Amino acid sequence: MQQTLFIVIDGIDGAGSTLHSKLLAGFLSLKGLKIHLTQEPSNSEIGKLLRNFLKDDKIPPSTDALLFAADRDLHYRNEIKMKLEEGYIVISDRYIESSIIYQSCQSEKITIEWVKNLNKFAGKPDLTIILDIDPKMSLARKNQKDLEKFEDISFLEQVRKLYITRAKEEGYFIINTDDIIELVQEKIQQFVLNKLKVKGIQVKE
Ligand SMILES: Nc1ncnc2c1ncn2[C@@H]1O[C@H](COP(=O)(O)OP(=O)(O)OP(=O)(O)O)[C@@H](O)[C@H]1O
Ligand SMILES: [Mg+2]
Repeated sequence: MQQTLFIVIDGIDGAGSTLHSKLLAGFLSLKGLKIHLTQEPSNSEIGKLLRNFLKDDKIPPSTDALLFAADRDLHYRNEIKMKLEEGYIVISDRYIESSIIYQSCQSEKITIEWVKNLNKFAGKPDLTIILDIDPKMSLARKNQKDLEKFEDISFLEQVRKLYITRAKEEGYFIINTDDIIELVQEKIQQFVLNKLKVKGIQVKE
């Protein structure tokens, strides 16, 4: 039976977590593995609410933090855990790390410890990959009218710094994404293939 792995791709806005999660899922499927690709906010009702709140300045960061934790609790219990038990490798585009970083950067009253505590029922990923980029570059890739409330340069500089600090502390794999998409994806694939090998999970050559 295939052993499972819970992989998270996270990082600063516009670094490419959605793109690279999809590419990685496609690559691993071609390698003969059962893959479940998911994202946060999730597809739950709370996830839908959160997507609207991300465009709304009047929602306080504490409300965002509570809702993200609730959405994740459901997402983990009803989807991720189930899929792992069915033998899928799960790839999530964003997870707890996004909450820790974004909500704590938004308000001094929100501590990393509090966010961690709120999220203590959500299972831990086996692998977290942090995509890093200069926010000036990532914002330039985006359509200006679609920007969410988090997306301004000075806020994102702060977000970027905290992602890097925490990634080093927690031993996450950091990849800079200012290179061409194919090269970035290849680095991610090599990293994941190594981990699969260490875990004894067989892949097609
Ligand atoms: N290395 C790259 N070179 C050029 N364009 C890129 C690169 N990586 C991603 N992009 C493009 O940048 C845009 C943002 O990528 P993507 O949506 O994957 O980022 P994201 O991290 O998921 O963003 P968000 O935080 O908004 O969810 C997309 O149009 C994507 O195709
Ligand atoms: Mg995305």
